[in-house]
Amino acid sequence: MIRIVQISDTHFGEEFKPEKFREAVRQINAIEPDLVVLSGDIVTWGIHTEFRDAYEAIGDIEGELFAVPGNHDARNDGLKYFRLYFGELKKSIRLDELVIAGVNSTLPDSDDGYVGEEQRRWMEGVFRDNCINMLVLHHHVIPVPHTGRNQNVLIDAGEVVECLMLHCHGGVVLAGHRHVPYSTKLLRTHIIHAGTLSSYKVLMPDNNYNIIEVDGESIRLKLRFVHRGEVEVGRFAIKHGMPASVELYRSLSSTKRVLFVSSSVQEAERFASLFNRLSPENMHASVASPESRRIGELVAGADHVVALEDFRGADEVWDDVKEPERQVRELVERLLGAAGRV
Ligand SMILES: [Fe+2]
Ligand SMILES: [Fe+2]
Repeated sequence: MIRIVQISDTHFGEEFKPEKFREAVRQINAIEPDLVVLSGDIVTWGIHTEFRDAYEAIGDIEGELFAVPGNHDARNDGLKYFRLYFGELKKSIRLDELVIAGVNSTLPDSDDGYVGEEQRRWMEGVFRDNCINMLVLHHHVIPVPHTGRNQNVLIDAGEVVECLMLHCHGGVVLAGHRHVPYSTKLLRTHIIHAGTLSSYKVLMPDNNYNIIEVDGESIRLKLRFVHRGEVEVGRFAIKHGMPASVELYRSLSSTKRVLFVSSSVQEAERFASLFNRLSPENMHASVASPESRRIGELVAGADHVVALEDFRGADEVWDDVKEPERQVRELVERLLGAAGRV
């Protein structure tokens, strides 16, 4: 069993309540967690003295810390101080069967959240099919009620949610931001928000943090109020695998660029025009000669390469086509994949 304490929104600086923080540190050290996750807004204004104070005080928590930045940390160019004291903005670790990826969801000069394509691709590379995958970020991936604001989800929430469902099988999200602890499930992904540990902007009976126990196939979530005891939120089974509908929607919305390669441009064009006549709206074929100076770039930009003669880099070679129309129809069906069976 892996025990994680998730703290968030400590807000060192003008919002900080030291007595709450000190008592929470005492409790957390008694819990002896395997990892302490800090899901952003460590400080209030992003300035150096706040980060230095935070680093010294958070150092009293025993055990490993895994922190990501929040919108308040990013204020006043504060991410450089985040890096100075709390490490890289995106990072990953593995604890037995648990893979944890933390991303930077902040934007300069803005309280809005954005993960972006580069970090989403990075997440995909970090997550493992046979593990429990955990994403840590500051902002909300879905709307959280009781926050006093309805427009707080990530700008690219849809893309992040799809990325989680495709690559975060059996996944958990840990986030913070609006100082409201909350947990809900989105298909097979458990989304857990922590409230604020030590800001005076409390939207609950007391400052609070989460205790998360991951044991093989389930997660147990407890909400701990610093001076008002503990609430058992629930135990949730973790299901691996991906709902088929997610792959289906992705397949339906993706485009396919097909490249026909032949030293006879006329021959390549014959197949490309046949393909463009028979294929659906999300596909297009173009042609290239293997002698072209741009051949490497054209092949790299294509989703599928059909060579009409021997050619390195082809997905398939058609050097003896008896029935061109049937061959092209079959290619279209294959490229449609799951969507072709609608
Ligand atoms: Fe906050
Ligand atoms: Fe925030």
